[in-house]
Amino acid sequence: MKINGVPYRTIWPSADRRSVTIIDQTRLPHEFVTRSLANLDQAAHAIKAMQVRGAPLIGATAAYGLALAMNADPSDAGLKTAYDRLLATRPTAVNLRWALDAMQTGLTPLPPAQRALTAWQRAAALCDEDVAINEAIGRHGKSLIAQAWERKGCQGSVNILTHCNAGWLATVDWGTALAPIYAAHDGGIPVHVWVDETRPRNQGASLTAWELGQHGVPHTVIADNAGGHYMQHHRVDLAIVGTDRTTASGDVCNKIGTYLKALAAFDNKVPFYVALPSPTIDWTISDGLVQIPIEERAGDEVSHIPGLAEDGRITRVQVTPKGSAVANPAFDVTPARLVTALVTERGICPATPEGLRALFPEKAP
Ligand code: MRU
Repeated sequence: MKINGVPYRTIWPSADRRSVTIIDQTRLPHEFVTRSLANLDQAAHAIKAMQVRGAPLIGATAAYGLALAMNADPSDAGLKTAYDRLLATRPTAVNLRWALDAMQTGLTPLPPAQRALTAWQRAAALCDEDVAINEAIGRHGKSLIAQAWERKGCQGSVNILTHCNAGWLATVDWGTALAPIYAAHDGGIPVHVWVDETRPRNQGASLTAWELGQHGVPHTVIADNAGGHYMQHHRVDLAIVGTDRTTASGDVCNKIGTYLKALAAFDNKVPFYVALPSPTIDWTISDGLVQIPIEERAGDEVSHIPGLAEDGRITRVQVTPKGSAVANPAFDVTPARLVTALVTERGICPATPEGLRALFPEKAP
């Protein structure tokens, strides 16, 4: 993807393998700031503080975090400390565990002296794999948008609702839910995106709107509560969202508020698609409501909102009365029965155990 015409990924290593650079997403959309991470502490902080976020990018950053840790201490103890430290940063997105496991499996059998170089190579390969996966999701998902366009008699635009940010910024490149949108737009299908603001952290209003704008995709930011209304009035042709963890039976855990959109889509017969790279599938569980740990984040994300003041400073204001209790579950689970289909790098399937296993037969229990 490009920022002001310049191609970027969201994370890239230095040539000397001493640091990795990220885009600080807490400064967007008002400032484009990159930060260099030079050690395990800084990588863990970047994930926890959501300078980087989105399931695939969390996994990629954790992989590089492990590589940074191997520069400093490649011993078995150093590997375990780094693995545990990074795994504890955010509990819901399963890509974190997937990436750390992939790194650990490759590093453990090696003598410590060889671990750092291999860790950097494996982290880079994991990032390249993410890009290839998302590009394939874009190709498959584009066909769903093309079908919606044909259903409309190739008139007007295909109106697509999305929630949170499952775009380029949530991955190494392309995005998951936004990849089909970029592919359709680049392929000449007129699209317009309804962007849920996505309280409390506003990843839609700040990040999705920003990256769609950078790519020239027409979009409108709406309050989270507006989507159902637009569905009732036939102004949403399809919804597509990402996921932080999907069970082997097709239950989808995603940013808080996704479930309400799925309910509204179901009631209004609007197709509700979920785009997911296979590392987001947790093959070890089948009941999302019971088995997925939901991250509870700090209450000040609900009570306070950051934004751009009229004098050009980025500031933070309180929106709740002082003393009111706040709660902040960061994710919810949409049961598989509300999901029209899953869009993966291997193709599109029903949100069922059979559907997923038909695409990924090697995962059969
Ligand atoms: O808390 P975040 O911003 O890391 O949330 C993750 C997300 O970006 C979304 O839930 C997204 O829809 C899935 S990640 C591609």
